Amino acid sequence: MRFIWACCLFFAVAQATDWADVRPAHQPQPPLLRRPHFSKNRIIGGENAVEGQFKYQVAVLIEGAGFCGGSLIADDVVLTAGHCINNFAFWEVHAGALNFNNIDEPGRVVVSTNVSVLHEEYNGVVINNDIGILKLSEAVSGPNIAPVRLPSRSQENTTFAQSVARVSGWGKSSDNSSSINVDLKYVDLRVITQDDCLAIYGPLIINENKLCCDADGGASSTCNGDSGGPLVITEADGEATEIGIVSFGVSLGCESGWPAAFTRVTWYLDWLEANAGVTIRP
Ligand SMILES: *[C@@H]1O[C@H](CO)[C@@H](O)[C@H](O)[C@H]1NC(C)=O
Ligand SMILES: *[C@@H]1O[C@H](CO)[C@@H](O)[C@H](O)[C@H]1NC(C)=O
Ligand SMILES: *[C@@H]1O[C@H](CO)[C@@H](O)[C@H](O)[C@H]1NC(C)=O
Repeated sequence: MRFIWACCLFFAVAQATDWADVRPAHQPQPPLLRRPHFSKNRIIGGENAVEGQFKYQVAVLIEGAGFCGGSLIADDVVLTAGHCINNFAFWEVHAGALNFNNIDEPGRVVVSTNVSVLHEEYNGVVINNDIGILKLSEAVSGPNIAPVRLPSRSQENTTFAQSVARVSGWGKSSDNSSSINVDLKYVDLRVITQDDCLAIYGPLIINENKLCCDADGGASSTCNGDSGGPLVITEADGEATEIGIVSFGVSLGCESGWPAAFTRVTWYLDWLEANAGVTIRP
């Protein structure tokens, strides 16, 4: 019996799990937890972002309770994960934000929307086609707000394997956290090959429309609350291009060392052109 239990417990816990299952803290962190000593806590790695560093990053509050990230791909369109859209009807988008609890932050723009497009073939069971957009009724702008660049058609077959890419978000900074991180953070991760990711998650989960990054043995990764946020590479011209949307990790935890998985943006260029009203560069 013990053997069977061990076997099935493993299968019950080692599943791909999307990173949305977290709520924002309703109270600001007590000052003690925000001492500089703790601000570089590297449990899932990364650093705190500075003002204006991620102008395309938005926070998405889902029906006043759930939390996701997203990116502006036009001044009135947010790109996010499908699981941040599926079965929800109302979102509040915070653009130009850094400290999420500081609602009076200069330059922050908050817009509510109930207009979304979820990918027609979104599948939450195997977390496939995990992509969606939110349409804002008005354009957002400000000194700390600007859309991110999407990949060009000439990049549609680029795997980005071995590239170093940067992901940002307010997701949990450790498995022990019970709520999102108040300050926007970012971390650099290395994109791994499809074969390497397939060998770990298996063919039921991994296909060519996903992209995986190494989690540096659990030291650097995404976590709950980062869902929908942007993974970007910096190209030769110094501009950031979004190549991934934070999608999922493993239910064993953000610090388990399993790869961080993303929706592969290059797979959806036609879909984005058709649904988001953006023009994809040649
Ligand atoms: C959704 O937006 C429409 C148009 O602005 C509005 O009439 C409607 O009341 C909204 N619905 C909800 C549930 O907020
Ligand atoms: C990408 O691959 C497809 C299928 O092999 C091919 O038809 C297409 O021309 C390629 N695109 C580029 C930009 O190389
Ligand atoms: C997380 O919580 C567990 C159980 O309370 C504890 O053993 C562990 O040291 C904690 N980890 C961190 C990084 O705080």
